[in-house]
Amino acid sequence: MIGGGIVTVSYITAMILFILALGGLSGPETARRGNGYGMAGMVIAVLATILGIVTRQYTILLVALLIGGTIGIVLARRIQMTQMPELVASLHSLVGLAAVMVGFANFMDPTMLFTGVEQTIHDIEIYIGILIGAVTFSGSVIAFGKLSAHISGKPMLLPARHWLNLGLLVAVIWFGREFVLQSAAGGGLAPLMIMTAIALLYGVHMVMAIGGADMPVVVSMLNSYSGWAAAATGFMLSNDLLIVTGALVGSSGAILSYIMCRAMNRKFIAVIAGGFGTGGGAVAVSGDIEGEVTPIDTQETAALLASAKEVMIVPGYGMAVAHAQHTVNEITRALRDKKVNVRFGIHPVAGRMPGHMNVLLAEARVPYDIVYEMDEINDDFPDIDVSIVIGANDIVNPSAQEEPDSPIAGMPVLEVWKGKTTIVLKRSMATGYAGVQNPLFYKENTRMLFGDAKDSLDAVLKAL
Ligand code: TAP
Repeated sequence: MIGGGIVTVSYITAMILFILALGGLSGPETARRGNGYGMAGMVIAVLATILGIVTRQYTILLVALLIGGTIGIVLARRIQMTQMPELVASLHSLVGLAAVMVGFANFMDPTMLFTGVEQTIHDIEIYIGILIGAVTFSGSVIAFGKLSAHISGKPMLLPARHWLNLGLLVAVIWFGREFVLQSAAGGGLAPLMIMTAIALLYGVHMVMAIGGADMPVVVSMLNSYSGWAAAATGFMLSNDLLIVTGALVGSSGAILSYIMCRAMNRKFIAVIAGGFGTGGGAVAVSGDIEGEVTPIDTQETAALLASAKEVMIVPGYGMAVAHAQHTVNEITRALRDKKVNVRFGIHPVAGRMPGHMNVLLAEARVPYDIVYEMDEINDDFPDIDVSIVIGANDIVNPSAQEEPDSPIAGMPVLEVWKGKTTIVLKRSMATGYAGVQNPLFYKENTRMLFGDAKDSLDAVLKAL
């Protein structure tokens, strides 16, 4: 056992480490260090809590830690990079569930003897904690179902759904008042349970109404909710570390959701209100766009790349699906050996989660100094000899700029078509995640290299 002073010092150390972790995670060079800080902070936090705050039931605690830890390690090892958003969604659901359980346990704890204003405040903490926790739990379960294609990605739009939501909100406030009043008289379980049911229903309804393309924003929003649920749990348990950590997660998740919405030119409220987006991609085929598609083979691609001076590689979701990042790195090295200036252009929402492409390229050891954000290189395309678009679609779609009625109108895109030649690697003429046609494929200076990106690039590398 350790004393209260040591626990406080440990908690402050953990808080500082968590803040350093967030700072580190803001860039690919420092992300590994940031993760290290986060892990160290969590070890200190867990140890200080076990040794300083828990006083009984060590066996149950150790068994729970062992089971939870084992599940965590097995999951983290098994999960593919492309399944990351699903994993994150399922982890958020656990945070929500924990907040609900702690809330009920706290409410039923006979040793919690508050009176007067203190009891009212404690009751409100419990009510809000369970409310956010239940919404996070059911919302995350549905998000997991949609991301893993167990549930259709199509938005489920009930008639008068906004009125339904408003009704649920009014009911939650009314039952909150009932709960505080009844709790003061020794009761309150019934309104608490009814509110929990309403919150679970709301979480389901909220996420069901959101289309597949907006799912990553929803995951980051649920990330934010899970933070606030943890902070509310911190208030219930009078645990400062949980309050601070929850607030850090809550606010960083909210900022991330905002940044993602801005990168897609979507209003946050419009995303949450739902309706946009289709199923898991690859829905419509060509037909609406006039013009011809010009295919290219791997030999010609290699020849074009080798004779270029300036090459821009634009990776997208398809590179992740094909696991082509290592071949991409080898091609980059081969071209740089031939004195070709190779750069990468990364769209802020390329792939299916923030930083998706940066993580894959870092994993394949592509040098950071040739990887550029969209804003840094978008003006350079007129000087590019060959742009090679690897499994990307929506992020290079000119209709975002040219067609005001397009679902992705106004979304900033990488202007590859302004370069001399663009080679697009994909398997078919299927659409990307937003389900919209792409006129880029029909442009005169575009060549289509059909096939799995990894297979195509392996052949290109061989030819090089
Ligand atoms: P998408 O528009 O989804 O296009 C990916 C393309 O990759 C598809 O057209 C697909 O065409 C191709 N592909 C799939 N598997 C392939 C394989 N094995 N080999 C070669 N090609 C393959 O991806 P994007 O351009 O990266 O855009 C991302 C989309 O997700 C945007 O709509 C964005 O708004 C949305 N989104 C992303 C985020 C974040 S944070 N990243 C958040 C919210 C929404 P084929 O089927 O023909 O091969």
